[in-house]
Amino acid sequence: MNATVDLSVEIFNHTFRNPVIPAAGPNVGSGAMIRKTAEGGAGGLLAKTISGVAAPVPHPNMARYGKDSLLNTELWSELPPERWFEREYGIALATAREYGLPLIASIGYTAEDLAALGPRLEQAGIDIIEFSIHYLDSERLLETARALRNAVSIPIVAKLSSHAGDLGEIARILDPYVDGFACINSFGPTLMIDIEHASSPMGSEHGYGWLSGSVIKPLAVRSVFEVARVTDKPVIGVGGVSSGEDVIEFFMAGASLVEVCTAAILKGPHIYGKIAEEAGQWLAAHGYHSLDEVKGLYLKKFREGQPVVTTLELTAFVKEEMCKACGQCEKVCQFDAIHAPLKQIARVEVNKCAACGLCVSVCPFDALEMRPR
Ligand SMILES: Cc1cc2nc3c(=O)[nH]c(=O)nc-3n(C[C@H](O)[C@H](O)[C@H](O)COP(=O)(O)O)c2cc1C
Repeated sequence: MNATVDLSVEIFNHTFRNPVIPAAGPNVGSGAMIRKTAEGGAGGLLAKTISGVAAPVPHPNMARYGKDSLLNTELWSELPPERWFEREYGIALATAREYGLPLIASIGYTAEDLAALGPRLEQAGIDIIEFSIHYLDSERLLETARALRNAVSIPIVAKLSSHAGDLGEIARILDPYVDGFACINSFGPTLMIDIEHASSPMGSEHGYGWLSGSVIKPLAVRSVFEVARVTDKPVIGVGGVSSGEDVIEFFMAGASLVEVCTAAILKGPHIYGKIAEEAGQWLAAHGYHSLDEVKGLYLKKFREGQPVVTTLELTAFVKEEMCKACGQCEKVCQFDAIHAPLKQIARVEVNKCAACGLCVSVCPFDALEMRPR
């Protein structure tokens, strides 16, 4: 790890050795899997969601979408809660103590489930509880948060799902009962059709699945931003994290920690440590010494009324020394305002530039930026 950058995170009265921890999924579906996440460099530990009964998980339940996203219909743990209390949490707790890491248990879904499971988890030595609202209707949110709050004294985190509605508003309602938030769960329901067989790769009713991975990252970042705007409590960013730069982005939106599921499923448990190391390298390369220095940077600018978006007073500008005349900008310009004939650097026609900003985002050489007209 980078010697000059402090990657540790202190929240919920616990120390995470770095900001990258697992999100609930098959990557933490047993004590043995949780041990692998510690070995893979995770900053803290988390166990797959359990509920009052084992989940009736349909098969098949996972399919890749694009390069780095997934559809799933895995529900919660297929193992009965008794198995977790008798065996899996024991392995996870021993790992947590061995590595000096906090252990988060994830539970769902009804007030009765939470009131029954919460105290057992606290007694077992679990450090923090995350509870999921994924399968709840909005009228029951408050009742479930209250039930868990009344049942345990360890920190509790509400994991929000974007289909639940306005997450800022939901966070405001739940805030008095919880110690923090995690945003977001997988997005959906969605449908993917294998056109050769006119069938879905998901074994669920209707063939629906839930989307995760890089396709949902902008939705997750927006959700973290909206929740961080209404609470001073820690917000955990979840959704599409697969690199150190993603960690920085979530922190700038207001996150205090990130969780990773899809990237760990597709690339393996070493990914947690790798992402954390990349975040450290980014911070060092940009002259920062800790994550606290980037935390909430976007949020702060927004609150202080500083510009965070491109406006019509700006125009695309070519940094000539960096342009490789690849022509990508010309291809995407919908306003015929930028031209990069083969082997000639790009030129912007300022009077035609609509300040959309697309060319800046597609340039592979960072040779374009928006500047005042
Ligand atoms: C196969 C699979 C199973 C999941 N199971 C759970 C679960 O049991 N409980 C839960 O809260 N979230 C579950 N999730 C959602 C993830 O924890 C996470 O919120 C979401 O996938 C977004 O993060 P990612 O893009 O890093 O995967 C699951 C996701 C996947 C892909």
